[in-house]
Amino acid sequence: MKKLLIGLLCVTLVACNGNNKVSSPDGTLTLDFHVCNGQPAYSVSCNGTDVLLPSPMGLVLAIGEDTLRDLQWAVESTEFDAADTTWETVWGEERFIRDQHNQMKVCLAANAIRMNIVFRVFNDGFAFRYEFPEQELGDITVLDEQTAYVFAQEPQVWSIPWRTEYYEGLFTKAPLHEKDTMCSPLTLEMSDGMYAFIHEANVTDFPCQNLYVSSANTLGTYLTPWMQDGKELEDKAYVVAPFVTPWRFVILTRTLPDLMASRIMLNLNEPCRIEDTSWIRPMKFLGIWWSMHLHEWTWSQGKRHGATTANMRRYLKFASENGFGGVLAEGWNTGWEGYEGINNDRFSFVTPYSDYDVESLSRYAKELGVNIICHHETSGRADEYEADLDTAYRFMQQHGMPAVKTGYVAPIVRTVDGLQWNKGQSGVRHYRKVIETAAKYHICIDNHEPAMPTGLQRTYPNLMTQEGIRGQEWNAWAQDGGSPCSHVCTLPFTRMMAGPADYTPGVFAFENPIIPGTRVHATLCNQLALFVVLYSPLQMACDKIENYAKHPAEFQFIRDVPCDWNQSRLLEGKIGDYVVMARQDRHSDDWYLGAITNEDAREITVPLAFLGEGEWQATIYADAADAEWQTNPYATSIETRMVTAADTLNIRLATGGGCAIRFAKQ
Ligand code: NOJ
Repeated sequence: MKKLLIGLLCVTLVACNGNNKVSSPDGTLTLDFHVCNGQPAYSVSCNGTDVLLPSPMGLVLAIGEDTLRDLQWAVESTEFDAADTTWETVWGEERFIRDQHNQMKVCLAANAIRMNIVFRVFNDGFAFRYEFPEQELGDITVLDEQTAYVFAQEPQVWSIPWRTEYYEGLFTKAPLHEKDTMCSPLTLEMSDGMYAFIHEANVTDFPCQNLYVSSANTLGTYLTPWMQDGKELEDKAYVVAPFVTPWRFVILTRTLPDLMASRIMLNLNEPCRIEDTSWIRPMKFLGIWWSMHLHEWTWSQGKRHGATTANMRRYLKFASENGFGGVLAEGWNTGWEGYEGINNDRFSFVTPYSDYDVESLSRYAKELGVNIICHHETSGRADEYEADLDTAYRFMQQHGMPAVKTGYVAPIVRTVDGLQWNKGQSGVRHYRKVIETAAKYHICIDNHEPAMPTGLQRTYPNLMTQEGIRGQEWNAWAQDGGSPCSHVCTLPFTRMMAGPADYTPGVFAFENPIIPGTRVHATLCNQLALFVVLYSPLQMACDKIENYAKHPAEFQFIRDVPCDWNQSRLLEGKIGDYVVMARQDRHSDDWYLGAITNEDAREITVPLAFLGEGEWQATIYADAADAEWQTNPYATSIETRMVTAADTLNIRLATGGGCAIRFAKQ
């Protein structure tokens, strides 16, 4: 991508119309807004030390024949506001979330055009968005966004390149100047040890942002473009006033636990629009799935068809005996021949293959009290799916299926606007339509190949989880041998900060007969710990049920662990190295702990102060002394002991290892 030149910034701040400064409620962060030579900019300091130097803002618009690139903005007025509210999540990592911020709205005008910039400063970061109030401008094309982040020091950045297909990449770390154009979000570490996380919130009718390096310490914004005839256009968004852009936000904290505890993204999304949410239920589920990725079963009908009535009955029975909420069946419907390379049939979302008896299976599932989770792969044909949405969801409703995993396997999707980036404006509109239509039918969504999450689940909690992550499936077929152990130690600080992910933990058999060089780089305890470390309110235990049956003692942890939390705390961690996460169940007093490490074995000391008063029975699933991910991944030691908050646990994590603990309140 061509790097855009950020105009020269003047050093003298010109405060127009008085005070254009807003601080966080605790006074640590201060944001200054100023207009210099007609160009808006902001800067941010923490306890008086510069974090962001004057950084340009604005949008480049085209209205009719005119491209409005260098509008001369002037401040007309500034309004201040503050909020301190607490709201309850329908599900989540936290039951109650506090939204405490100070707000400054700067109203600007350039010629006859009016634009407001709304800033919010929280104790752990800041956000802003552009608002175009009602005015006679006609159709507007957003050609560019000029928002920049000029860091006072060059940060280290963890990111994936902006063209990473489906966001399924390994996050890599490098000094900012060595990066190119990257997907949002980014995680950064400053040389003074401060952490930052840059992302956007509430993207509903706008392209997703990407971020590019414009100089050693400056990031610019690159909006995902519209496409025409396979080519990327200069056009980024088509809008009409009044409109608002998504929020741009930066979390700024001194520690990683504080970075991960930030709820700025959810606070910037709108409150829940679904009145009765009683039908939205987090659950763990199993699936006819991993065997397809191992090439043992097929999605399409044939000798090795996975989603048969007989297989599904076995999975449903096992799910009901082991307390799972649902079973996903992939390959239940016609149209998969194209997916496996034979032809390119249209998927039907209402026609089961003849060896999958949807009627009797629905009755059986109901008898057992287990849900069938539906699957809608579209092969990137979002336009067809959009046309079929009502019929598909009505069919699900009639058969008692409360959730669907959607899929868009095609790097460029075909929307109602032709071939487009899924993270462009057209793709974003499509996903939004799916969520809203699903809500009408009381259907929850697990969206694979999504646009990057931005916290929309606050408004539509039926959007429960999404992919947009290099998930477990890569360990079945990736030609690079599978994800390194450090990958799951990087995700909590990077992709997972954008919201729940359907990573699909829980492989219990590591040999891969199809691609022998490829495997899960983990011990069995590492796989258990992922149920705590990687949050998803629809959490899939992905292995074959036969493999779970072989390890009943270890499987007990997966049976017990919930997927909806009262509170969550990162106890300790280092990006890419290790993670120690504790979460309290939303429906009991019990706590769960998940600890994982990268290629290095390590010993960790965990003070149990987070438990609070009383006695707890700790069931500890730890790597055995001789465990090691490559040669001895199954060696586990399971121990039960009584503990209190005054105790400290010493835990040894093997290479690629982990530890999972249930603390049951006595
Ligand atoms: C890719 C998804 O990530 C995977 O989970 C799914 O099994 C296949 N597409 C088929 O839809």
